[in-house]
Amino acid sequence: QLVRPQVIALDGPSAAGKGTLARRLASHYDLAHLDTGSLYRAVGRRILREGRDPKDATYAAETAANLQPVDLKDPELRSEATSQAASIVAAIPAVRANLLAWQREFAKAPPDGKQGVVLDGRDIGTVICPDADVKLFVTASPEARAERRFQELQAAGANPIRRAVLDEMASRDRRDSERATAPLLPADGAFVLDTSDLDADAVFDRVVAFIESKTRPR
Ligand code: DC
Repeated sequence: QLVRPQVIALDGPSAAGKGTLARRLASHYDLAHLDTGSLYRAVGRRILREGRDPKDATYAAETAANLQPVDLKDPELRSEATSQAASIVAAIPAVRANLLAWQREFAKAPPDGKQGVVLDGRDIGTVICPDADVKLFVTASPEARAERRFQELQAAGANPIRRAVLDEMASRDRRDSERATAPLLPADGAFVLDTSDLDADAVFDRVVAFIESKTRPR
């Protein structure tokens, strides 16, 4: 009997392995995947491109409301400047409110004829899809996550400084966790997995085992 969840909510801090895990789960269960961080990144990036201040709540909310699919294709979406701007706009309640419908719509009507979705982010299990049939929270120590980001940046041809990568991650973590609206928290009933000492295969295997144990017909 094939076990196939319809909505998988995957939350956790940056560089905990969400992206890789989400793509693998989507492919394994034939689900559509939405990286919700890319929405906040697209808002932050457009504001920087327009020379505006990401802390300007009114402008940020307007940008979120007018976000276009082409904004999600900006090549600078993963830059450090965009990361910081994304984390600033993500703390503005009106920005979050204006991105809510987009995310719920994706979960309700998956593209490409898919029967279900994986959404990854910070508040999927708590706010966006509180009725998800599977809720996951993947985390890792700040050191392990900074090391992964460092390796990623190096592999991309950049010349990162270890200490700076750790500091920037810490400042973003703090902003994401301490904000008043939808702070980063495991949802009730979420399967919490610390990936500090696990590779991508081990993470995937454990999560699939959890999903099977949860959704297997009794
Ligand atoms: O996952 P990421 O690093 O691409 O996310 C970019 C920023 O967006 C991050 O600082 C937190 C924020 N974010 C959020 O507040 N809620 C989400 N569901 C996803 C991302």
